[in-house]
Amino acid sequence: MDLTGKTALITGASRGIGAATARVFAGAGANVALLARNADAIADLAGELGEQAIAVPCDVSRYWEVEAAVEACLKAFGRLDILIGNAGVIEPIAPLSGADPDAWGKLIDVNLKGVFHGMRAAIPVMRKQGGGTILTISSGAAHNPLEGWSAYCASKAGAAMLTRCAHTEGAADGLRVMGLSPGTVATDMQHVIKASGINPVSQLDWSDHIPADWPARALLWMCGAGADAHLGQEISLRDPEIRNKLGLT
Ligand SMILES: NC(=O)c1ccc[n+]([C@@H]2O[C@H](COP(=O)([O-])OP(=O)(O)OC[C@H]3O[C@@H](n4cnc5c(N)ncnc54)[C@H](OP(=O)(O)O)[C@@H]3O)[C@@H](O)[C@H]2O)c1
Repeated sequence: MDLTGKTALITGASRGIGAATARVFAGAGANVALLARNADAIADLAGELGEQAIAVPCDVSRYWEVEAAVEACLKAFGRLDILIGNAGVIEPIAPLSGADPDAWGKLIDVNLKGVFHGMRAAIPVMRKQGGGTILTISSGAAHNPLEGWSAYCASKAGAAMLTRCAHTEGAADGLRVMGLSPGTVATDMQHVIKASGINPVSQLDWSDHIPADWPARALLWMCGAGADAHLGQEISLRDPEIRNKLGLT
């Protein structure tokens, strides 16, 4: 896949799946705008990737920061072709009966409203350009309840519906919208899950998790016409057919 001349904005690019995606997309020739709260981490990654990358410190739970980040991306690269809504948090991990209401709401602000903020800021720009690709990182938790994860499950279910809504509203105008459910990935998030000791995901062995490079490569493939059969849907990286197609073994 050659993304030369294309620009991708990646939320949550300071580590994990987002950072791996930045490396894979830059390797494919794309300009990349790296968003996260950890300004040092995205500045280091932008330095590694060179002129193709800019670091834009941004908290996705604040719409005005996301809007400003899209403007910074347009100023640097002149266009926005791909939005990767990846930023996410897993905490609070707590039973519904004891969850802190403020912390519960903050997770929704990041995982659900953050995805909306990215779409809201990017879609008018993409429409003006005649189209674009919007990919959101989903999860098995969008469709399956897990003990202690009410905020995370509810946020991912909401983000999965937002993905479908964006497809319904935008497909006719050239917006390609899809979700990617990666399965479990060896990132900091899984360290937090392991430390909680709650529910079967925390009991998994580290070797059960796939490397962050796998979802990154799947996201790159999703930017091309080869994935068009899945528009408006969610692709699961647990699906052996998809893994085979992408050579992920
Ligand atoms: N790991 C898994 O097994 C797994 C499975 C299914 C889905 N996912 C999803 O994949 C995505 C990436 O997760 P990961 O595994 O790579 O986790 P991670 O290593 O913890 O990375 C999370 C990223 O999100 C960013 N982030 C968190 N809050 C943010 C905010 N308010 N504003 C901007 N950026 C924010 C973090 O950057 P800062 O802290 O610097 O802001 C970081 O770059 C998430 O949506 C997660 O739900 C992960």
